[in-house]
Amino acid sequence: VATPGPVIALRWRDGVLRALDQTLLPWREVELELRSADDVAAAIKRLAIRGAPLIGVAAAYGVALELARDADALERACEMLATARPTAANLAYAVRRVQAAVTSATGEPPAEAALAEARRIEAEERSASDALAAHGADELADRPRILTHCNTGALAAPGRGTALAVLAELADRGSLELVLATESRPLLQGARLTVYELGRLGIAHQLLVDGAAAGLIAAGEIDAVIVGCDRVAANGDVANKVGTYPHALAAAAAAIPFVVAGPTSTIDPACPSGDRVVIEERDPDEVRAIRTGPGGDLHQLTVAGTPCRNPAFDITPASLVTALVTERGVARPARGESVLGLLPGG
Ligand code: MRU
Repeated sequence: VATPGPVIALRWRDGVLRALDQTLLPWREVELELRSADDVAAAIKRLAIRGAPLIGVAAAYGVALELARDADALERACEMLATARPTAANLAYAVRRVQAAVTSATGEPPAEAALAEARRIEAEERSASDALAAHGADELADRPRILTHCNTGALAAPGRGTALAVLAELADRGSLELVLATESRPLLQGARLTVYELGRLGIAHQLLVDGAAAGLIAAGEIDAVIVGCDRVAANGDVANKVGTYPHALAAAAAAIPFVVAGPTSTIDPACPSGDRVVIEERDPDEVRAIRTGPGGDLHQLTVAGTPCRNPAFDITPASLVTALVTERGVARPARGESVLGLLPGG
């Protein structure tokens, strides 16, 4: 049972990026010290730092770290960090912003220009979290039992997160009775991280295996589903943690709301539809075995060498999304024009 208080997933101190190693949670709270773009890219790849907005912010700081070591490293560092994982839109969004800020800086050392932009992005994502929490809570005010998938809290985004920020806001307002958190196989972001955060927030919750969700939705035990997002295409299709799409199908069949929450930095206007999103395929060993417990022991789950597929994300078509909740308002239904209208200047 976790200690109460806010989770600090990332902090910049004395020229070093400190990150809670999420692969060790909830058993051990170990802070990594990241000093270069390579350190940050490696932490993002192995999901020590994860969640779409959080990897964007970490990558932005990663550019600043690298420029402090080598003022000419901008191109190389940006390329490496922007491609550390392919699916979340926020990674390239944040890296390209830092790159533009450094390129256009006059008289300011590159590392300082990068750090200032990284801090700006983090601050913007933090206030986006608060704003989208309020919009999302308005949306789900009369829904006491809500299911969520993967981890979308302070471990996934600055501030209180995305979907989990909405749940925290509903709890503050007194209308939330129960959060149903799915395990989110294979890496158990729900079982390890969401449960850890809900415990710290003092929010009543139950953990489910992923396959239990549809049956409970059909049985009327769940009033709404809320998830985060890794990339929202221009037509409103949503890429999110693998296993999201079945929850959306079940929600539609039971006529309960399926709400997606995320900052507008996750919307990719250049991606026309979900079939154009690059879905990260991860190591099949993540399916064959599970690394768990305080010692990080590896436990085999199947016959050695079993062929596996391990897509880390899936696509939920816009037609199944009741509402897309962002800091700039709500697209309901979430379709082309309503989604793009949420973007600055949209
Ligand atoms: O592979 P992960 O753990 O980085 O996947 C995270 C998710 O899918 C979240 O739902 C998503 O990033 C949105 S939450 C901020």
